[in-house]
Amino acid sequence: MATNRTFTMIKPDAVEDNHIGSILAMITEAGFKVVGLKFTKLSTEQAGTFYEVHSARPFYGELVEFMSRGPIVAAILEKENAVEDFRKLIGATNPANAEEGTIRKRFARSIGENAVHGSDSDENAAIEGNFFFSMLERF
Ligand code: GTP
Ligand code: MG
Repeated sequence: MATNRTFTMIKPDAVEDNHIGSILAMITEAGFKVVGLKFTKLSTEQAGTFYEVHSARPFYGELVEFMSRGPIVAAILEKENAVEDFRKLIGATNPANAEEGTIRKRFARSIGENAVHGSDSDENAAIEGNFFFSMLERF
């Protein structure tokens, strides 16, 4: 089942900009089924753990501050080829390089405040889903 699932967050910038509904609509219209969904907020410590892989990067502090400054929507999504197809749907990390019709092209403010997260592998999709959701919260 894990190979057909990915994990996403609608990041604080997109929540602030009131895009939760529009982004969830783009996700479901692209054929993803929502199998876990949560509106929550990360502490700085939790955001630091989630993005630990980037801890040596110069933007890490900024990233942790950003991801913990307001609520986020976390979701587990199911679809054939979920991880790769979802990365296509969200577009490039920097919205200036994102293709037309992608979520980041439409909603991201900048390379740092880029509206959505998408897992980059099946393994990380499982780890990230487990970070946010118990077995009772996924369907
Ligand atoms: P995620 O789906 O959020 O993991 O983004 P990504 O996989 O497209 O990019 P990556 O994992 O390389 O970076 C994680 C996040 O760090 C990005 O989504 C941005 O929010 C942030 N980030 C990446 N590069 C920069 C940068 O050069 N400056 C700043 N301020 N933030 C960055
Ligand atoms: Mg990433």
